[in-house]
Amino acid sequence: MRTHVVDHPLVAHKLTVLRDRHTDSPTFRHLADELVTLLAYEATRDVRVQAYEIETPVARTTGTALASPKPLVVPILRAGLGMLDGMMRLLPTAEVGFVGMVRNEDTLEASTYAERLPADLSGRQCYVLDPMLATGGTLAAAIKFLTDRGADHITAICLLAAPEGCERLERELAGLDVPVTVVTAAMDERLDEKGYIVPGLGDAGDRLYGVAG
Ligand code: URA
Repeated sequence: MRTHVVDHPLVAHKLTVLRDRHTDSPTFRHLADELVTLLAYEATRDVRVQAYEIETPVARTTGTALASPKPLVVPILRAGLGMLDGMMRLLPTAEVGFVGMVRNEDTLEASTYAERLPADLSGRQCYVLDPMLATGGTLAAAIKFLTDRGADHITAICLLAAPEGCERLERELAGLDVPVTVVTAAMDERLDEKGYIVPGLGDAGDRLYGVAG
């Protein structure tokens, strides 16, 4: 597994405002959206392309188009939904699949409660959107879900990551014969006893959408 922490002053600035407990939900949603687009620029460096012939007003030339099958973007519900528009801005022709996962706050284990994905993902590049790579349980389960269906290239985009989550991903995906990359705006210090990232930004779903129970 490769972990790429995007080192850019605009990324650091937007993340700082997201971390601030006084940032309200509309501002949080807006900045998360912008931050994802910056992360997506880095995350799509390996997107598969093919040569594409065009005519400019002056001459014929060979350009670049996204290869087929198109990449699949997979937000993990609910908080990953807040990252979808920022991602689709860069990959407007990608397809979108959904996985709903919830973390049991006692065991910190993830379980799937909803899924809308093609049954066959053979040869598909997948971009998984999960704002907080905390314990790593949710992301590991989602990645296994996708690779079990044939996805052969996975990039996870996370606003924040914790070392414990990255270590768990490394462990759980060790036998997987599929390249996995995590792209994140920062690697924070640690998890607290409730599984929150420290210093973190709190509960990403609540910050995006309010406390909906
Ligand atoms: N999920 C969140 O939303 N925040 C954390 O800090 C950890 C998991």
